[in-house]
Amino acid sequence: MRYVRPMRDPVAFSSAQLPIEHFDERFSQDNLAFWVPLLIECAQIQPGHRVLDVGCGTGGFARAIAKTASAAVTGVDYSERFIAFARELPAPQQGTVEWKVGSAEAQPVEDNSFDRVLLSLVLHQLQHPELAVAEAFRALNAGGKVVVRTIAPEDVANRVPERFVPAMAAADAERMPPLDAIERWLQEAGFTVTGRRRVLHNKKLRLADEERQLLIEAHSRYTFVSAAEVDSGLRLMRKDAKANGADWVDPRPTYFIAASKTASTDLEAGPSYQGIQHHRWRPGNSPLPLCHRVVPHSRTHCHCRLKDLSYLGDECSYILANLHQLISQSPAGPGVLTARLTRVAISSGAGRWDFS
Ligand SMILES: C[S@@+](CC[C@H](N)C(=O)[O-])C[C@H]1O[C@@H](n2cnc3c(N)ncnc32)[C@H](O)[C@@H]1O
Repeated sequence: MRYVRPMRDPVAFSSAQLPIEHFDERFSQDNLAFWVPLLIECAQIQPGHRVLDVGCGTGGFARAIAKTASAAVTGVDYSERFIAFARELPAPQQGTVEWKVGSAEAQPVEDNSFDRVLLSLVLHQLQHPELAVAEAFRALNAGGKVVVRTIAPEDVANRVPERFVPAMAAADAERMPPLDAIERWLQEAGFTVTGRRRVLHNKKLRLADEERQLLIEAHSRYTFVSAAEVDSGLRLMRKDAKANGADWVDPRPTYFIAASKTASTDLEAGPSYQGIQHHRWRPGNSPLPLCHRVVPHSRTHCHCRLKDLSYLGDECSYILANLHQLISQSPAGPGVLTARLTRVAISSGAGRWDFS
């Protein structure tokens, strides 16, 4: 399925619009007991790992992962309210947590500074989800792993409450990125996709909770759903709950997509010249890396990151042979640019590499 940017601005009805206590209910004991072991397993989180939880909200997963896996978790969210709430909670009994306000699309963390990155139900709320994926790649060290937790657009209409409120279902289905698109963003960022797993939660529902939550959601962020449709949704919900009695459950199918930042095998050592080791691309492999986040700072130099070159160390200064073309294509300031380079020379404190 192709990714089409949603017509409705995903930021306008992001979870950050929600009252804190309502939002924090997603981290109920029941939900933590179900999702946290899965997140730890899919991301292969080990004791001592530095884990970045992007779009952590009020931090329930971050705290539980720190405690369960003895990990050092950093939670990032762009909602100052959610992070302030997370900061007030007691420290976990094991592991550590740290909180940062910041954007998933420009994560406030150093390059290569995490072993694991979690993007749990956050990509669908972003203007530029592919940037958040590229940022996860930047934040991870070589060998690090990212896990995306998401809902497939085709599964939305059967969830509660969307099952009873068609306008809500349509908007949510439109904003959830197709799984193929997420895997493509991961690959374009430089990741190797290692697995896709579908999980059924089969959550037992309580009518009073579902009614209350539908009303809060409709009033605080799905404001485009008419009062008549909300009323009709409540009626349908009651009928469904009554018909199913104690067996009223929501399967809530959810996907985990895992990917690794592997060291590239595309390079082979070339001759050493004036004490500097040169490398070249192995024949048959992709000729040159894709370049992104180019920041031109003169007509002859620019600053950028090339995917798959993390093992060369921190960000280098890249001198690009076809810089004129790059500059003419690139946005005025820092931004995203996708261009296939034909020749590139890289210089850093550690030496100089030529690729052609
Ligand atoms: C649906 S909640 C997911 C919370 C948690 N990760 C989970 O899996 O339940 C989405 C979270 O992403 C945050 N968010 C939305 N846009 C963001 C952005 N541009 N940068 C960082 N966080 C963002 C929201 O504030 C909210 O906390």
